[in-house]
Amino acid sequence: MELGSIVQFLENKTIFVTGSTGFLGKVFVEKIVRVQPNVKKLYFLLRAADTKSALKRFNSEVVAKDLFRVLKERWGGNLYTLLSQKATLVPGDITCNNLGVKDSDLLEEMWREVDVVVNLAATTNFDERSYVSGEKAGLILENPYNMGETLNGTPGLDINVEKKMMEERLNELRVEKSSEQEITSAMKDIGIKRARKYGWPNTYVFTKAMGEMLLGNYKGNIPFVIIRPTIITSTYKEPFPGWVEGIRTIDSLGVGYGKGKITCFLGDPNTVIDVIPVDMVVNAMIVAMAAHATNQPAMNIYQVGSSVANPLVFTYLQDYGFRYFTKNPWINKKGKPVIVGKVKVLSTMDSFHRYMTIRYLLPLKVLQIINTALCQYFQDMYLDLRRKINFVYRLIELYEPYLFFKGVFDDMNTERLRRATTKGDVETDVFYFDPRCINWEDYFMNTHIHGVVKYVFNDDKKG
Ligand SMILES: NC(=O)c1ccc[n+]([C@@H]2O[C@H](COP(=O)([O-])OP(=O)(O)OC[C@H]3O[C@@H](n4cnc5c(N)ncnc54)[C@H](OP(=O)(O)O)[C@@H]3O)[C@@H](O)[C@H]2O)c1
Repeated sequence: MELGSIVQFLENKTIFVTGSTGFLGKVFVEKIVRVQPNVKKLYFLLRAADTKSALKRFNSEVVAKDLFRVLKERWGGNLYTLLSQKATLVPGDITCNNLGVKDSDLLEEMWREVDVVVNLAATTNFDERSYVSGEKAGLILENPYNMGETLNGTPGLDINVEKKMMEERLNELRVEKSSEQEITSAMKDIGIKRARKYGWPNTYVFTKAMGEMLLGNYKGNIPFVIIRPTIITSTYKEPFPGWVEGIRTIDSLGVGYGKGKITCFLGDPNTVIDVIPVDMVVNAMIVAMAAHATNQPAMNIYQVGSSVANPLVFTYLQDYGFRYFTKNPWINKKGKPVIVGKVKVLSTMDSFHRYMTIRYLLPLKVLQIINTALCQYFQDMYLDLRRKINFVYRLIELYEPYLFFKGVFDDMNTERLRRATTKGDVETDVFYFDPRCINWEDYFMNTHIHGVVKYVFNDDKKG
């Protein structure tokens, strides 16, 4: 694999990006504009009713973010001029035909002009986000999925049938006049059931795998790259360390812990948590883009993570959290510092069930008896506690495969790409993505947790 200057590769290119309002999308957009303002054109597809509201969203949800601070310092007011010259905002929706783009002239123009499509749009709510195999153990390879292949070997996966089944269930629920809440819950249930039938732990990874199968099948002669990042964390270095957004996976635990709401964790303390800073993911994407722009149509898959090159063990992460929040306690709404303790670790599902029974299920039973005896006097309290317990069980059901996960993500292809950057004219100091250079203790203690506190704690409205 031969690579030249990446900055030069980007010059005069036209790039179409979906998901630019998302976490990864923003970091991608910022990086491109910062390292190569002489791109020819950038098309950003956004969910919006029209171009005006797309522009409003782009300005407030992307450019206004602190992430763009370095660009604003460099360009001043001219940044908006630059963006207005280079960027075209495209109202649309990737779930619709022609990506929901109604303007046929614009569609034509994009067909003609676009050199690279970067698809970052995805539904990532509620379900676990990192790419994970249902196998729970071993080395997870950078292999493509063949159409109809399943994780547990169960035959019969047909994407058209899955789609039809979902549509039929949705129609049934509508005919039954189910409420929106009932529909959401029933559709989640059927999604998880279908995913588990074929060995995937949840709908997020099941639909990702089907997406890869479809793309592999229909890509034709287009050079093609799939990036599989693991759990993405705050920026390591650029545009500055510690920028992050949204409460996600390990950060949701961090927020709960730092605010004193989580006092116990379920999971194997020796599990390797595969995390990777967002700027490294973006750099790997851009380098892969350049490496395969003219390649012939293989499926190029890159797993971008750290579990092979520089593994981080869960128990260290807990230690970093404890030390960070002991030194820098969160000040709660009442102005009081939240004192954190060492968390109790429940390392098996059995110990979790015992803990839940003693701490919550037995008290719930007692409350139920008292409530019945007192003619439903404590009904609200009883229902509230029952709802919270059910929620915990549902989360655990969904997250269990990750909490006891024993796999690591092979990154041989990514390593090959990394090696290629060390030869030729690649700007390795700009497009770094080697997790071996990360000192996890330093990163978590001085960059990541600080970033989560700065950018995420205040967004968490629960105190
Ligand atoms: N973050 C991680 O830890 C992580 C880890 C592994 C893989 N990934 C993958 O990386 C990609 C980006 O993730 P992220 O963390 O940036 O997610 P994110 O912050 O949730 O952003 C998702 C983006 O997709 C857009 N989107 C969703 N549905 C759309 C639709 N129907 N049409 C057009 N746009 C739509 C969203 O737009 P709106 O603003 O309109 O909602 C948003 O811009 C995803 O494929 C995700 O699965 C992320």
